[in-house]
Amino acid sequence: MLSIGVDIGGTKIAAGVVDESGEIITATTRSTPATDAALIEAAVADAVAELQKDHAVVGVGVGAAGFVGADRRTVNFAANLAWRQHPLAEELERLTGLPVVVENDANAAGWAEYRFGAATEAAHMLMVTVGTGLGGAIVLDGQLVRGSAGFAGEIAHVTAVPDGQWCGCGRRGCLEQYTAGTALVRTAKRRAGAGDALMSPLLQAAGGDKREIDGPLITRLAQQGDPGSQELIAEIGTWLGTGLASIASLLDPDVFVVGGGVAAAGDLLLEPARAAYAKNLTARSHRPLAPFVVAGMGNRAGIVGAADLAR
Ligand code: BGC
Ligand code: NA
Ligand code: ZN
Repeated sequence: MLSIGVDIGGTKIAAGVVDESGEIITATTRSTPATDAALIEAAVADAVAELQKDHAVVGVGVGAAGFVGADRRTVNFAANLAWRQHPLAEELERLTGLPVVVENDANAAGWAEYRFGAATEAAHMLMVTVGTGLGGAIVLDGQLVRGSAGFAGEIAHVTAVPDGQWCGCGRRGCLEQYTAGTALVRTAKRRAGAGDALMSPLLQAAGGDKREIDGPLITRLAQQGDPGSQELIAEIGTWLGTGLASIASLLDPDVFVVGGGVAAAGDLLLEPARAAYAKNLTARSHRPLAPFVVAGMGNRAGIVGAADLAR
């Protein structure tokens, strides 16, 4: 049985035909048309039509970066996109003629890691996606936890700092504002603007214009050994580990899987996260220390998980 998985990201829409073992048989991408809902849907439908030409599929699963209702059809709210009570499944069914299931993007990625990726041995896992936003997926006893309205796992909007940075959700001090791409870029721009010498390689790589600094650039420079970029990544790693120590008090997972674009920095992100986690974990010397592992499916997780959840 084949299904199509679609991952709607901020810059690109990735879609693929996926089989029951989680293999992507064929894939395609479109660039994400700004934030216009109708244009995004047209681009998704176009990608689905291309994939459907050569493959008979039973349905489409879509990962969307927002609060997806328990009916798995509507995006009720998105912190970083314009969706409000948006009937995404209905629109896509109309355009594609196929049954559509919508999932939170991180839930889709987390499900793929649990079924086919870095957490296949775990019964209880927490996945975080560190990208533009901070995504979360909770699997307990082998079940993806959706909660009452469908919004469980929204780790982005757990309060990290009372009255802290403003968040796209309209509140202040959310963890996403300290641990995701938004935080990386904000700090980098502020430091570069203040003439911080450690930021000068980054500023140079951005063509001397601090407005051009983005998450992928910081991650790339960090990987190439730039100390300033490494420091920026380490800082969000520390926040991440601190946040996850609180989450562990509540959920007690076997493993933390870390994905999303910033996870490409590997141990530059994970080592500070592990250290902060160990430092802040309650009853630390009387419990196992859950490992932090990098996602095993890379940027395929969103497609594979959405497709699997659509079956
Ligand atoms: C949103 C989540 C989403 C995450 C990653 C957060 O800001 O609230 O719904 O999963 O970003 O895209
Ligand atoms: Na989630
Ligand atoms: Zn928030």
